[in-house]
Amino acid sequence: MTARTQVAIVGGGPAGLLLSHLLRARGVASVVLEARPRERVEARQRAGILEHGTVDALREVGAAARLDRDGLPHDGFAFHVAGRRIRVDMQELTGRHVTIYAQTEVVKDLVALRREQGEPLLFEAEVHAVQGADTDSPRVRYTHEGAEHVLCADVVVGADGFHGVVRRAVPESAVTTYERVYPYSWLGILADVAPSSHELVYARHARGFALASMRSPHVTRAYLQVPNHTDPASWSDEAIWDELEARLWLDDGSFTLGRGPISDTSVTPMRSVVVEPMRHGRLFLAGDAAHIVPPTGAKGLNLAVADVRVLADALGEWYASKDETLLDAYSGTALARVWRAEHFSWTMTTLLHVDPDADPFDERLALSHLGLIESSVSARTTVAENYRGLALGG
Ligand code: PHB
Repeated sequence: MTARTQVAIVGGGPAGLLLSHLLRARGVASVVLEARPRERVEARQRAGILEHGTVDALREVGAAARLDRDGLPHDGFAFHVAGRRIRVDMQELTGRHVTIYAQTEVVKDLVALRREQGEPLLFEAEVHAVQGADTDSPRVRYTHEGAEHVLCADVVVGADGFHGVVRRAVPESAVTTYERVYPYSWLGILADVAPSSHELVYARHARGFALASMRSPHVTRAYLQVPNHTDPASWSDEAIWDELEARLWLDDGSFTLGRGPISDTSVTPMRSVVVEPMRHGRLFLAGDAAHIVPPTGAKGLNLAVADVRVLADALGEWYASKDETLLDAYSGTALARVWRAEHFSWTMTTLLHVDPDADPFDERLALSHLGLIESSVSARTTVAENYRGLALGG
């Protein structure tokens, strides 16, 4: 069957879903096509730190009722380095806080709203081809409930993640890919126990990185640096807790790790990738389809949201006045923020992890940088500004 819409959005994760809502608010029609079943999309565990601008966007589309009720505002976070605590007070240094609210919950809220509005969002819609990028009527071919469909649109947005099909429709010669792979991964756990600290703790320890985070006042989320290709089954629950305790330790004894039943473990490799430009003809890339950050700065979701805010404004303007200026600026505007987040995520990652191939010189540099963050208000302010997110377009 052949159908027509204004904007075909491939991918029903946070970027694609939010874009559909932002476009609707600007009077632009869209169809969201997601390959996975709804339950899988809603169960995917990712980070949970929302910048102020991300919260604003969710409020703008009317998807923030649960976030406003259950989100945990955090004014700061701490580094634990060699048994000492360095606190970064974002609220004091920058006048802004971040909000803890799991990405899976953001997705659930955006799906529920789309359903409530009766707007098109198809799960298990497998896109197998994107055609006509160089024409003014690109097409998406997909299979849904056993039938073949063609969706014709004015533009196609690839919000379908790093292995998505839309980017593969862009000729390789039309993009440049920048990449960094790290020699370590994260072993992540979810546990039914109250967080050990009311703010997040990032630890650099001779044994490696650790992070104590949370999902709610009753659920702890925590991570350990492990070698690449680690099998999560090779870690017993007791070994995970012992290792977290060793790495998060403070010499003055003021940090006590609460232990509880672990409900989920996973291993995530880390990499940084940017694909430039984020547009090819009538195809636009947003979120993970165009860039990946290592999770250390919690920027992935926030970058995806920032991309679609810029794109929604540009498409809204284009439909309203036929003016292409903002659309032509999309890739450059988005990439300025992307590269800032890439640098920050790389900095946080290399500063806090122990590179198995590093020499003692590298270690001294990292410790000196952390010392600077501890002693200098301007160094701490730079970390705080990047963590809470910089202004759109900058
Ligand atoms: C998380 O809670 O999953 C989380 C928090 C902060 C990060 C990364 C992940 O930097």
